[in-house]
Amino acid sequence: ENNNNCCSFEDYKLTTDWLLNRTNLRPKVAVICGSGLGLLADAVSNKVSFRYQDIPNFPVSTVPGHEGCLVFGTVDETPCVFMQGRVHLYEGYSLCQVTFPIRMFKLMGVESVIVTNAAGGICPDFKVGDIMVIKDHINLPGFAGEHPLCGPNDERFGIRFPCMSDAYSKQMRRLAVDVGTDLGCSNFIREGVYCMVSGPNFETIAEARMLLVLGCDAVGMSTVPEVTVAKHCGLRVLGLSLITNKVSVDYSREEKVNYEEVLQISKMRAEVLQKIVTQLISRLQQQ
Ligand code: 6GU
Repeated sequence: ENNNNCCSFEDYKLTTDWLLNRTNLRPKVAVICGSGLGLLADAVSNKVSFRYQDIPNFPVSTVPGHEGCLVFGTVDETPCVFMQGRVHLYEGYSLCQVTFPIRMFKLMGVESVIVTNAAGGICPDFKVGDIMVIKDHINLPGFAGEHPLCGPNDERFGIRFPCMSDAYSKQMRRLAVDVGTDLGCSNFIREGVYCMVSGPNFETIAEARMLLVLGCDAVGMSTVPEVTVAKHCGLRVLGLSLITNKVSVDYSREEKVNYEEVLQISKMRAEVLQKIVTQLISRLQQQ
């Protein structure tokens, strides 16, 4: 059943007010930490944390590697809010619930969102550990009607037929590549197209070959609904995919992907990703 309108404007407002009554911070930047990337929030000073389960209306993640904390604080003077963990479509949540935090960020006064995820590499040039700046996406569930903006449109957030041709801010993409280069990461910073699948299984080889033909560079089970809703309500978006494994597009290759591998590679790159995100936030404010 389509449960895309489980949240009313008042629900988003209630949660926003609940949080803003408990911290003096007024975040300008929101960061969503993907699988195994909760450490990104360690860069935050003057922390005020809330467990998702204690926040009214907030969806609670059921996946290991997703901590379930909303962390307010400052990064180099910039007020920020970090989501340590997110919920996914495959957990059984509606896309309205999956994107709930985005509209809440909007009502809080957030202007920019940095979305991170762990993804499988489709592009044959990609290596495990690469960081892909998302240039564009393919909303595969959206093609089938599993889309966060289906249902009556709330004009207080955005228009009925939003443009998606520039969902990922060109300025922020350039900044991300510059920051990565300055930090000595240019040999593993890439740009590419992210495709969302619902999961929870990883792709079959035939599916992976299809994605390759469609022009996807990386595949994952998140991010696209959040980005779509963020773009709809006028937030500036940057997406970063950590390539945690190579997707097999070849029947002769024996390697099999598993979630432990995903978490292990996330841990390996979490520190450098944290540096990139921190630098990005500092430089965003200078612009
Ligand atoms: Cl190989 N596929 C999908 N769908 N999501 C992933 C992944 C692969 N690796 C990390 N996340």
